[in-house]
Amino acid sequence: MTTYKISVMPGDGIGPEQTGATIKVLESLEQAFGLSLEFVEAEAGDSCKQKRGFALPDDTVRILETTDVCLKGPVGETAYEVIVKLRQMFDLYANLRPCRAYPGLECLDPETDLIVVRENTEDLYKGLEFEVADCALALRVTTPGACKRIASKAFQIAELRNTKRLVTAVHKANVLKKTCGLFAAVCREEAMLHPGISFEEMYVDAAAMNLIRQPAHFDVIVTTNVFGDILSDEAAQVVGGLGLAPSGNMGEEFAIFEPVHGSAPDIAGREIANPTSMLLSAGMMLDWLGEKFCDRDCVGAARSLEAAVAKALSDRVTTPDLGGNYTTHQVAEAVAAGIPAEVIG
Ligand code: NAI
Ligand code: MG
Repeated sequence: MTTYKISVMPGDGIGPEQTGATIKVLESLEQAFGLSLEFVEAEAGDSCKQKRGFALPDDTVRILETTDVCLKGPVGETAYEVIVKLRQMFDLYANLRPCRAYPGLECLDPETDLIVVRENTEDLYKGLEFEVADCALALRVTTPGACKRIASKAFQIAELRNTKRLVTAVHKANVLKKTCGLFAAVCREEAMLHPGISFEEMYVDAAAMNLIRQPAHFDVIVTTNVFGDILSDEAAQVVGGLGLAPSGNMGEEFAIFEPVHGSAPDIAGREIANPTSMLLSAGMMLDWLGEKFCDRDCVGAARSLEAAVAKALSDRVTTPDLGGNYTTHQVAEAVAAGIPAEVIG
């Protein structure tokens, strides 16, 4: 049996609560599917900076380098120093953020099933900001290579999902003629290579409106870093809120899975954070491990976790953000209880 080494970054605010609950569910999956998961804690974030002076210490980076994958909780005000840096450091160029309606949960349109494919290494989040005289400047970086690989990823995902077979490239090339112009041109070229997938372009302001007006129109949204950041929070709310939204930061060799949201200081420490975003991130992680190491048990565990999450939601075992009064751990316990005790492979 292969042992997968997973670096676990609990982070700040609600991160440690979500992480504790998620590890318990992963332990149930280990038993049920005969998996072997080794968790290695990796410190980072605001609390780490307070304690040690660095938000992302070198030993944390080394832990990530020696593990197969990372499961991360949200961090707080040090998000740039931690996750934005890690995305660039490990070249995790694709940020995949799926959003789908769950039976029994309030949603703008129950047919919603989309994924935001966000470029994850460039744009204004490159962090090239300067002060010149009394002005503040930021560089928006767009390279053909980064556009090509994210566009290609989006079309691959549209093929694999095999749902609406539609890629929507979201940009603002009418105004940002150079940067968005390059992104749009590369997406158009990529579309020519995938004649079986429909392709459309949408300006980001119209996309923000259409996500509310007709969310079920979308299948795969491919966009640049900052637009993807903003639209994915919006898309999460369309299907019930940030507490449901998982994500994967994917590179060729390594990946970091984390909730879309931040550390939610307004509800931290009260055991009311919705663990679903991190549970579904853990599901995406198992799927990624399963694909990478051709491990059917891992993929089976991912499917079982998703089904158990959907069952808990449809049984209305939910935290207050979804109208329930269950705690973080009670929701996780209900999910763990929905996992078959033992799967005979
Ligand atoms: P946020 O995403 O933490 O919270 C926005 C709203 O959603 C809050 O009302 C919060 O209570 C709610 N919420 C988020 N997750 C929830 C969950 N699991 N269950 C129930 N309710 C949930 O955004 P905010 O307040 O702008 O940022 C807080 C901190 O998070 C900031 O310091 C920011 O830098 C950091 N951040 C970190 C990220 C990361 O580590 N990847 C991403 C985004 C923000
Ligand atoms: Mg964000």
